[in-house]
Amino acid sequence: MAPHTSSQSPNPRRVTTRTLQRMREEGDRISMLTAYDYPTAEVLDEAGIDILLVGDSVAMVVQGRETTLPVTMDQMIYHAEMVGRAARRAMVVVDLPFPEGQLEISRSVDVSARVLKETTCHAVKLEGGAEQARRIETIVTAGVPVMAHVGLRPQNVHVEGGYRVQRDQQALVRDAKAAEQAGAFVVLIECVPSDVGMAITEAVSVPTIGIGAGPHVSGQVLVTHDMIGFNSGYLPRFVRQFSDVRTTIQQAAVAYRDAIISGEFPGSKETFE
Ligand code: KIV
Repeated sequence: MAPHTSSQSPNPRRVTTRTLQRMREEGDRISMLTAYDYPTAEVLDEAGIDILLVGDSVAMVVQGRETTLPVTMDQMIYHAEMVGRAARRAMVVVDLPFPEGQLEISRSVDVSARVLKETTCHAVKLEGGAEQARRIETIVTAGVPVMAHVGLRPQNVHVEGGYRVQRDQQALVRDAKAAEQAGAFVVLIECVPSDVGMAITEAVSVPTIGIGAGPHVSGQVLVTHDMIGFNSGYLPRFVRQFSDVRTTIQQAAVAYRDAIISGEFPGSKETFE
């Protein structure tokens, strides 16, 4: 299928909420990955990824924390500013970190507005469905597009007692429909059986983006560090490693160290006369 816009052209047309809605309606699958820094965002954007997510997963894959909970709003803004500047075509979405999407709604509006004012990103993502409907509606009314995140909610890890596949189809469909009605432009679905992913997608008319939600959704997202093999830790079953960057970096570091030890680096080409 022909892409809606080309990431290779000098002035690529920006992916917007309307582009994504059209892609769902025309059956074009949406690609989304996380990004936390300028060069990675630039490469992913050039590769034609439709949405870049400045995810609160930065806490785990960049900061080396055990959960997503410790990352702060100021840190999210710091990363979002770099990613927003690097992305020329992709839409850039920024996670509201814990507890910015759980405290008073006015606070969520304030921090969502910070994302648009202090970075060149385009939307926020927050965890929750039916219970977040009023919050989503208020943020959207204030002018900030919201991506809703239903199913497994990593910010709820201590309430749930771990990360589990979410199977309550009725509740999950209710969450997605409430988020759509409140104005969410995409519903992200994490870690549900494939038939639940399909039921949610059939129940709403906005695009659905799955992570561990099977193939019957409008698009897919993965954490980039998992997808490129940059992580040393546990990988969920839904991850596919498309590369082994950790080994590539390690081999380069070993070769560099060996070249220093042997005296082969720097050579005449790397030395000023
Ligand atoms: O923060 C994150 O990386 C996420 C994933 C679901 C993609 O929210």
